[in-house]
Formats: sequence, C-alpha cells, structure tokens
Amino acid sequence: MNQSSPAQPRVDQKNAQFWDELYGTHHAKQLGIKDHSPESLARFDAWFFDYYPYLLPFLPMDGLATKDVLEIGLGYGSLSQRLAAAGCRFHGLDIAAGPVAMAAQRLEQMGLRGDVRQGSILAPPFQPGSFDWIVSIGCLHHTGNLAAAIENVHSLLRPGGHALIMVYNAASYRQWILQPRVTLRQVFSDKKAYANSHANTQMTNLYDRDSSGKGAPATEFVTKAELGHLCRAFARCRIWKKNIGGARHLFFIPRRIRLLLGPVVGLDLYCRLEK
Ligand SMILES: C[S@@+](CC[C@H](N)C(=O)[O-])C[C@H]1O[C@@H](n2cnc3c(N)ncnc32)[C@H](O)[C@@H]1O
Repeated sequence: MNQSSPAQPRVDQKNAQFWDELYGTHHAKQLGIKDHSPESLARFDAWFFDYYPYLLPFLPMDGLATKDVLEIGLGYGSLSQRLAAAGCRFHGLDIAAGPVAMAAQRLEQMGLRGDVRQGSILAPPFQPGSFDWIVSIGCLHHTGNLAAAIENVHSLLRPGGHALIMVYNAASYRQWILQPRVTLRQVFSDKKAYANSHANTQMTNLYDRDSSGKGAPATEFVTKAELGHLCRAFARCRIWKKNIGGARHLFFIPRRIRLLLGPVVGLDLYCRLEK
C-alpha cells in the first residue's frame, strides 16, 4: 500500500477535526432536522437522494446482496444505510469520529449489520483484496493525497472488483468563470505530471465549509484526463461529469434544469472503475 508523506499526519489530524461536524449539517438545519431519529434521518435522506438524483443509478443496488462493500467517507450516512439495506456485507471507513458514530447509529436503529471503523484510506485497516465493491463519494480529494488514495482503492479491491468514486472537477463552470487562466493551464497541462499544485484556498472555500465558515483542510481538483491517468492501474475506467450548484445567477433556475448542464461543465467527476 502506498506510504504517505511526512506532512500527512498533520493533514489527517485536521481532517479528523474538521469532518467531525457531519457533512450535510447545514442542509439538515435548513430542513429543520434537530435529532437523529429514524424519521428525521429518513427526511434528510429523501432530500439527499433527490438533490443527487444521478448517484444511486451508478450503483447496482440489486446485485450487492452477497458482496463485500466498503464505503470510504461516510458524512451523514445516507448512502451507508442504503448500501447496508441492500443486504451486502457493509464496511464503512471514515477519518472522523462523527460520521463513524452516525453510520453506526443508523445501522443499529435500522437493525442492519455492518462494520464501521474510524481510520484513513491512506492507511486502511483492511487486507489488500478484501472487497468486491468500493464506493467513495466526495472523499478521496480531501485526504491530502488523491493519487495514493486511488492506489489504495485499487489494492483493496479483489480482481474483477468494482469501484465508484466521486472527486471534484478542475474544469467545471465554476473554475472557468472564477479562474479561467489557471483552469486553461491545468486543462492543457501534462496529465502525467499531475501533482496537487493547482488547488487554492479561495476555490476550496466555495466547496466545503463548516458551520463556522472554515474551509476543508485539504481539497484537490482534477481534470477528467488527470483522473483517468490516476486510475491507470484499473482495467476499466469511465468518467462522467455531474452536478451544477446554486450560485447567484443560477439560483433562480430549478435544479432539475441546471443539472442538464452537468455532463458538460459539472462540478463533480463520477468514475466507475473495474480492477
Ligand atoms: C464531503 S464529505 C462526503 C460524505 C459523504 N460521502 C457524502 O457524499 O455526503 C467527506 C468525508 O470524507 C471523510 N474523509 C476525509 N479524509 C478521509 C480519509 N483520509 N480517510 C477516510 N475518510 C476521510 C470525511 O471525514 C468526510 O466524512
């Protein structure tokens, strides 16, 4: 498995603190959710899967029943619960205590089985070749080492195993509007030379903030070509662009209509992989 850099422990520590506040807390507040009862979580999940309508169709939920499935980066646990409810042997991994506690609570109160652990995908507490499926939505680009995280996903899969990962698109409408020159440079740079050198704080803060307004400790942005290169060890790799946010001038256009532009200049890259 890939070894991490000397600076990694500090990034891990900051990530464990920052993400302890569940990703989705802001939306839960907007929905008026004040507890973690099954009813409140069902309301949150209805919002989550409606807001990201393209997410579940990427996964063969009916075919997971006998599979070992690992989810990395659990957040509010909406997908964790769905995966466990699909009857797979569910394993969850997150660097922060909050998401681990939330996923464990969900499994317990829904009577579902699963193994949820606190730890990092950069030093995963599993043997290579342990999983048939790995799912990681919006997580690997926050680890501080996207390339190593993808290598570890490859290593943890069994031969013929599948993965779905979502990472941020470095050439979305947001980058083209706010930093066209940086974007142009990254789009035309050598994909083989990718190193997390393009991220900047201004851009990072537009993506993930906690309730105090602080941005995520580490965020990487990749082009479709760079992501394809980072995934070169896999036998198959297909990437789709998805998701358009609700910033100022777009706010009044209904989300369903905005999402039509996702495949062209979307914020997120969804990547289906086969080992
Ligand atoms: C933006 S949230 C996404 C949560 C969820 N997948 C979703 O789509 O709502 C990122 C998650 O990745 C987790 N994370 C960050 N770095 C990690 C690492 N090195 N290993 C495992 N999980 C990590 C965070 O704790 C957080 O729960």
